Amino acid sequence: MHTYLVTGGAGFIGSNFVHYMFDKYGDDIRIINVDALTYAGNLENLKGVEDKAGYTFIKADITDKEAIEKIFMNNPDIDRVVHFAAESHVDRSIRNPEVFVQTNVLGTAVMLNCAKAAWENSDGTFKEDHRFLHVSTDEVYGSLPDDDNAFFYETTPYDPHSPYSASKASSDMLVKAYMDTYKFPANITNCSNNYGPYQFPEKLIPLMINNALQGKKLPVYGDGKNVRDWLYVEDHCKAIDLVINKGRLFETYNIGGHNEKRNIEIVTIIIETLQDMLDDSDPRKANVTKDLITYVEDRKGHDRRYAIAPDKIKSELGWEPETMFAQGIRKTIAWYFDHEDWMKNVTSGDYQKYYDSMYSV
Ligand code: NAD
Ligand code: DAU
Repeated sequence: MHTYLVTGGAGFIGSNFVHYMFDKYGDDIRIINVDALTYAGNLENLKGVEDKAGYTFIKADITDKEAIEKIFMNNPDIDRVVHFAAESHVDRSIRNPEVFVQTNVLGTAVMLNCAKAAWENSDGTFKEDHRFLHVSTDEVYGSLPDDDNAFFYETTPYDPHSPYSASKASSDMLVKAYMDTYKFPANITNCSNNYGPYQFPEKLIPLMINNALQGKKLPVYGDGKNVRDWLYVEDHCKAIDLVINKGRLFETYNIGGHNEKRNIEIVTIIIETLQDMLDDSDPRKANVTKDLITYVEDRKGHDRRYAIAPDKIKSELGWEPETMFAQGIRKTIAWYFDHEDWMKNVTSGDYQKYYDSMYSV
């Protein structure tokens, strides 16, 4: 029986991971979810797991060394750390880089140091079968040219451009340093763009779904031709479970969907899928038209294309994306249809201020 310390488990991917792991392992695991509940963290995402005997939530900031030390001290059975907690939105990093360095770099250093202190034997080796997984992003590799044959491999040199990706690259480097210096038992995963339930509507897909349903403009940055490689979040969770339990220690694994699409294609698919899924009697249906698409000023330093080569995780661990985009986007839209209150709650208050300051469309 493993005890997982999950950081950022109230966010988008973290909460999907907590659900996925309890669905898969039931009472055979414990999960301690450590989250500071920033604007992106939401305990509503964890409805259904809160009452499980194996689940504990602790509100703590990963930069708070004493709080994290105490969690390890009080829970000596922790043998898995899955580290999601981060500031994750590129646009926010362009406006306010410092908190990205604080959480993503310093927070990762604190997590590494506390896990090391808890797991290290007196001879400098580590307790058997204890593992730390650092969840990172394909953005550390920089931007690919508009050329269908170029991909990010695990060996691709780091070349981050935004403050977000620079902070994630720095955190990856710290994990690499712990592995090289102390033989600290860790892995890094670098994943492409996720989409699915519980994603905060500052990110492209939920923002477009929410705006379209309200008949609000759909703000497409620049020429709309930037490419992202979209992966349904549950497929990412499956990959994380495989890497932390079966991956070769000290290795990096790239995770991606082989599902590259230009942003304008994504927006168009969302409009068409909404038109198809909405009932003719639904008054929102008339709102959802391509006339809502509005080209706006480009993101500063906007990376052109991301595309992951997932060959290594496929050949070593047998992982492949299972959810095709056409199916994943319908599941995602259906989830947002069923969770109107969730969307209302997360878009009230500070979200409106953020939205108004970002988008004057
Ligand atoms: P998110 O923004 O939805 O969630 C982040 C979570 O971390 C929130 O619950 C927040 O409250 C928590 N958090 C933030 N600062 C904290 C702090 N100082 N202490 C404790 N908790 C804190 O992010 P996400 O999209 O779920 O991404 C999770 C991880 O996956 C991040 O590390 C991100 O870099 C990585 N990633 C994301 C994607 C993607 O497409 N979303 C793709 C690849 C990798
Ligand atoms: O590649 C993995 C990364 O994917 C993760 O590490 C990040 O945490 C995650 O936020 C995501 O970063 P992106 O910047 O690619 O995602 P975002 O949803 O913000 O934007 C996707 C694309 O859509 C990007 O090219 C910018 C564009 N866009 C985004 C928004 C929010 C628009 O055109 N309009 C918008 O309003």
